[in-house]
Amino acid sequence: MHAVSLNYANVLGAMGLYPGTVPLAMDGAGTVVRAGDGVTAPRPGDRVAMMGDLGISSHAVVPAAAVLPLPADTDLTEAAALPCVLTTAWYALRHLARPRPGETVLVHAATGGVGLCAVHIAQAMGARVLATAGSEAKRALLRDLGVEHVMDSRGLDFAREVREATGGAGVDVVLNCLTGRAQRAGLEALAVGGRFVELGKRDIYAGNGIDPAPFRRNIVFASVDLQALAAGRPAFMAGLLAEVADEIAAGRAPRVPVTARPYAEAPAAFRTMAAAQHIGKLVLTAPTAQTEIALDPDQVPVVRGDGAYIVTGGLGAIGLRLAAHLARSGAARLVLNGRSAPGPRAEEVIGKLRAGGTDVRVVRGDIAEPGLAEELVAEAEAEGARLRGVAHAAAVIADGTVALLDDSTLERTWHAKTQGAWRLHEATGGRAFDWFVCFSSAAALVGSPGQAGYASANAWLDAFTVWRRAQGLPATSVAWGAWGEDGAGAHLAERGMTMIDPDEGIAALDRLLRHDRACTGYLPVDIDLWSAVMPHALESPYFADLARQRRAPEGEGRDTELIAMALAAIAEGRGAAVIAEYLSDQLGEIIGDSARELGPDVRLTDLGIDSLRALELRTRIEQRAGVRIPTKLLWTGGTLGGLAEFIADAIAAEAPSPEGGTGGTGGTGGAARTGAGAATGAPGAAAPASRPDGAEPEAAR
Ligand SMILES: NC(=O)c1ccc[n+]([C@@H]2O[C@H](COP(=O)([O-])OP(=O)(O)OC[C@H]3O[C@@H](n4cnc5c(N)ncnc54)[C@H](OP(=O)(O)O)[C@@H]3O)[C@@H](O)[C@H]2O)c1
Repeated sequence: MHAVSLNYANVLGAMGLYPGTVPLAMDGAGTVVRAGDGVTAPRPGDRVAMMGDLGISSHAVVPAAAVLPLPADTDLTEAAALPCVLTTAWYALRHLARPRPGETVLVHAATGGVGLCAVHIAQAMGARVLATAGSEAKRALLRDLGVEHVMDSRGLDFAREVREATGGAGVDVVLNCLTGRAQRAGLEALAVGGRFVELGKRDIYAGNGIDPAPFRRNIVFASVDLQALAAGRPAFMAGLLAEVADEIAAGRAPRVPVTARPYAEAPAAFRTMAAAQHIGKLVLTAPTAQTEIALDPDQVPVVRGDGAYIVTGGLGAIGLRLAAHLARSGAARLVLNGRSAPGPRAEEVIGKLRAGGTDVRVVRGDIAEPGLAEELVAEAEAEGARLRGVAHAAAVIADGTVALLDDSTLERTWHAKTQGAWRLHEATGGRAFDWFVCFSSAAALVGSPGQAGYASANAWLDAFTVWRRAQGLPATSVAWGAWGEDGAGAHLAERGMTMIDPDEGIAALDRLLRHDRACTGYLPVDIDLWSAVMPHALESPYFADLARQRRAPEGEGRDTELIAMALAAIAEGRGAAVIAEYLSDQLGEIIGDSARELGPDVRLTDLGIDSLRALELRTRIEQRAGVRIPTKLLWTGGTLGGLAEFIADAIAAEAPSPEGGTGGTGGTGGAARTGAGAATGAPGAAAPASRPDGAEPEAAR
C-alpha cells in the first residue's frame, strides 16, 4: 500500500457512530506484489487504486474486480483519494440522476471528495451546477471551479436561494448528504420530475420517515451505498469500477485536492475529518523507510525462538539459572562458558535443558583470553543460527581493602569482568542483536568494605554499559545485591543480609531487559542493617530519601515496654541482670538459640560473631533502648554483663527525675557500674553514652 484515503464513513466507524460495520479505510492505492491464481490483470508491479477492507496497513488483499488499474505515471497519493468518491459521484450522476445538458444539479457539501467529483462530472455532462459549502473559504473554491451559484450548507436558506436561482422551478437533481430538516428542504427544492440522490446513511438507518408531499411533483428518490452494491451486485460493481478506471486512464478524472499525512498521524487526520475542517480528501501515506514505533515493553520479546544466547559464567550459580530461564522462554540455543568443566549441578541442569529440546553447547575457556569470545560467537551462529543476546556473568571475587590492593588482586577481579566484557564487545562487533547484559554488583553502587577490586571491576562494567549505549549498541548492566540459595554471595544470608530470591532475580532481569534499562541497581535494602554495616552508603545522595526516612526524631522507634521494664528493674537494683537477659534473647535471634543460654560473663568477642552481626546487635540496642553503644564496648573484650550494665546506666541517666530533667533513678547500683567499667576496659565506658547533645562520649569513639 502506498496510501489510503479517509471517507466520512470511516470517521463515523471510528467514532462508533456508523450504522453497520465499516473498515478503518476502504480505498487507497499501491503496487501489486502478488496476484492470485487465475488473475491475469492486474499483475505484480502494476500501480493500482482499489476498494475493499484495507485498514491502515502495509499490505492489503482485495478481489481483482475491486482494483482500478492506473497509468504508470499516476501519483499514487492522489490516486488513493479517488476510488470511493469518484465511483460514488459517477454512479449517482451517470447511473441514477443522469442530468441532461442544461439541467440544474445541486451538490451539497461540494468541497468534499464526492462533492468535488460530482461538480466535475455534472459540469462535464453539461449541467448547471449549484452547490453548498460550510465556510467562506470553501465557497470561494467552488466559485473558482466555475460553480454558478454557491450557498451555505449550514442553514436552510439554500432552498429559497435555489428557487430564486431557478426562477422558482427548483433544481432537477439534488445530491444530498445533509440530514433532517436540511434533507427535507432539499426535497422541497426539487423541480417537477426531479431526482434526489441520497448519499448519506444516517436518516436511512435511523428509520427517519420522509414527508410524501414533495412526491406530488413526480420526483425520484434514490440512494447510494457502494458497500451494499459490491455485496449485492458484484458484476455491476465491477463494471462501474471499470468505467471509473477508464475515466482515470483517459485523464478525465477530477483533480481532487489532497492533504496527505503519514499513517502515524491517523488519529489527527480522523479528527480533522470529523470536524469537517478539510477540503477535498485526507489521505494517509504508508511509511516508506523504516520507522521507529514505541512498543509496549510487555510485548518486547526478550527471548526469540530462533535465537542463540551466550552466557559467560554460564556454569556458575546464576549463569545456570539464567540458562534455564532462557530455555524455558524458548531460546533455540545456549552457549555456556566457564573455565572449569561443568560440575554435577551444571551437568544436571544442562541435561534437563537438552532433554527439553534446547541446543545447549558448553565452551570451556577463559573469556578474557584472545579468541575465546570469537569462539563463543561462532558457536552461537553455527548452522545459520542468529545470535540474539549476550549475558556476561563470569566473575572471580577476590577481597582486599584499598590499603591492601595490589596488582594481582586487581588483576584477579578485573580479568574476567572487564577483559571478558571487552573481548565480547569486540567479538560481537558489527552484529545486530537484542541485548548484552553485564552482571554487575551492588558493590559498585554502594561500595563494599574489603571488596575494592571487585567493586571497581563492576563499576567498570556499569561505565562500559553507558559507553556502549552511547554508540547505539545494546547494553544493560544490573548491580545486583546478594542472591540467596546458591551463588557467590549466598553466604551473606548467614550474616543477616536480606537476599534476592533467585526466581525473583531472574524475573527482574527479564523485566529490565524488556524495558531496555541501562544501569539498574537491584538490591534489597534493609535500611537499619545498612546503617549499622554500611553507614557510608546511606550518606550517598543516591539513598538520601531512604536515609531521611530512617532518621526518625529523637526517641521515636524506642521500645517503650523495654524501657519501662528496664526502669522498673533498675529501681529494684536488678537492671543489669534483666537487660543481660534481654541481650541474650537478642543474640539468640541473631546467631541462634544457643546464645540464649549465655551468662553475663561471656565475652562478646568469644561468641565468634563477625562484624556484621555485632553491628546488627548494636543497631538493635541503639534503636530499641535509645542508647548509643560505643564500638569499643563490643570489640575490646567486653562481656554481655558489662554491656548490660552500660545500657542500664544509660537508660537510668535518660529517665525523667522526680524533680524534672533526666537521671532521676539514682543509678543502677554501684557494683554493676564498676563491673561495667572493669569488664569493658573502656575508660569512661560507664558514662551515659547518649548525651543530651547527641554526641558520643569521646572515649567511646
Ligand atoms: N551471587 C550473587 O549474590 C551476586 C551478587 C552480585 C553480583 N553477582 C554477579 O553475578 C555473576 C554471577 O554470579 P554467581 O553467583 O553465579 O557466581 P559464580 O557461581 O561464582 O559463577 C561465576 C562463574 O564465572 C566463571 N568464571 C570466572 N572467571 C572466568 C573466566 N575468566 N572466564 C570464564 N568464566 C569464568 C566461574 O567458573 P570457572 O571458575 O570455572 O571459570 C564461575 O562459574 C557474577 O558476575 C557476579 O559478580 C552475583
